Amino acid sequence: MTVLPNDHRSQPINLFEYETLAKDHLSKMALDYYSSGAWDEITLRDNRTAFERVKVRPRILVDVSDRNLTTSILGQPLQLPLLIAPMAFQCLAHPDGEVATALAAASAGVGMVLSTMATKSIEEVATACDKFPNSLRWFQLYIHKDRGLTRALVEKAYKAGYKALCLTVDAPVLGQRERDRRNEFTLPLDLHLANLATISELDISHEKGESGLFTYFAQQLNPAVTWHDLEWLQSLSPLPLVIKGILRGDDGVRAVEYGAKAIVVSNHGGRQLDGAIASLDALAEIVAAVNGKVEILLDGGIRRGTDILKALALGAKAVLIGRPILWGLAVSGQLGVSNVISLLQDELNVAMALSGCAKLDDIDPSLLILPRL
Ligand code: GLV
Repeated sequence: MTVLPNDHRSQPINLFEYETLAKDHLSKMALDYYSSGAWDEITLRDNRTAFERVKVRPRILVDVSDRNLTTSILGQPLQLPLLIAPMAFQCLAHPDGEVATALAAASAGVGMVLSTMATKSIEEVATACDKFPNSLRWFQLYIHKDRGLTRALVEKAYKAGYKALCLTVDAPVLGQRERDRRNEFTLPLDLHLANLATISELDISHEKGESGLFTYFAQQLNPAVTWHDLEWLQSLSPLPLVIKGILRGDDGVRAVEYGAKAIVVSNHGGRQLDGAIASLDALAEIVAAVNGKVEILLDGGIRRGTDILKALALGAKAVLIGRPILWGLAVSGQLGVSNVISLLQDELNVAMALSGCAKLDDIDPSLLILPRL
């Protein structure tokens, strides 16, 4: 159940209320960085409207008295089909940053993907979660031009007990988020890229008229990465490879051929190519093309339990949630993240009951009416 503080009337009762509240807890630069999408933010908006356009055909008179939301991803159990998406610089939202997020995820039995661009280190996050040895924690990877640095990140993640590498493939260059350009986005002096500390001068630098992160990507990340590099990546550790950022069926098939063990259907929260298809709209084609060979996850636009139901009905095994976690973190640290997860869990639970689904396997495509695209 949702954890309520003393004055429960001021407690957000949905993720949108967390978003509103979070605005009072964040600097303009941080709020703009977290909330913005690329260029005209069409894909950012579409990620939401795609969910709103899909309608549910509920089944009636099903015994839903005993509901089960548990599942597994890559063989690891989850209390509900939810992971926290990789998101950079969480200490901009709260001093405990990624540690608070990871603790909230682990105690709720949901997954957490730690970003390469985290403001807490791979080891700090792992150590903080020591008492949750079975928690699902993956490491999100950007391949840097410096292969040695990339190798070191993978080795650290493996050694610290992360269970998969989640390679982001939709960012050969960073998308242009114009609010960040205007703000000349940079990290405050007391924050740094905790996993890239060996080269501390790489802390997000300030360039006139540009987002520091855009400059960082242009200078440090490798835009020449192709499918053939996946073999090298997989040779660095025994960790299974999850590929995040797939929007086409043929790329889904290739990802499987090149060794991916799971796929995340994603457009990076509308932050990369503006005009890219909404994640939910891309899902069915990828599910059909991959044909059950690997597990498929989805992120982008999830704000309600019914959104999770819709993604699962279209063939996702689980979903990842991004920005609302940052809103919870900004409002009240670990407790806020826990509440955001609880709200989604409660909503999914009710949505399943109301659509005649006692367990996740009951959620099938026949539940939905899809719009014509
Ligand atoms: C980083 O990956 C970002 O999307 O800002």
